[in-house]
Amino acid sequence: MKIKLVFAALIVAVTFLTVELINAESEKKMNEQTMKNLSTAMHGEAFAYVKYLLYAEHARQNGNTKVADLFESAAKTERFEHFSEEAQLAGLVGSDSDNLKDAIKGESYETETMYREFAQQAKQAGDHEAAKRFEEIRLDEAKHRDAFNAALSGLKK
Ligand SMILES: [Fe+2]
Ligand SMILES: [Fe+2]
Repeated sequence: MKIKLVFAALIVAVTFLTVELINAESEKKMNEQTMKNLSTAMHGEAFAYVKYLLYAEHARQNGNTKVADLFESAAKTERFEHFSEEAQLAGLVGSDSDNLKDAIKGESYETETMYREFAQQAKQAGDHEAAKRFEEIRLDEAKHRDAFNAALSGLKK
């Protein structure tokens, strides 16, 4: 009887230890190269998702329903499985406050640096249509930045 109790206690102890080790493992920081690869992979999956939806739209307009369905089905996998699983591994989504701060950083960069430079370069190269589009998009990004900033100020928790 006593031996059985000791044995049961031992099993409980080993179980707790295993759970602790698993938790410690999942909290371990991801290798830097793996993080870079996750980011590259997520950018590819996100691009493929939107691209396939545009391809699907085009195929549907041409009456190629099966091709459209195929693109839509693949797009869903890229977005709801591949991207989501990678985002989970990378810890992409944080608190609302952290997510707003991250979004503000991105929109600020697009507004103040990226689209400004893109518009300038396109203008210099004589690509006036692209220059105009970059400038219009830049102003949209400024609105996003401002709206995210306002949301962050009004955030309760
Ligand atoms: Fe994929
Ligand atoms: Fe934006």
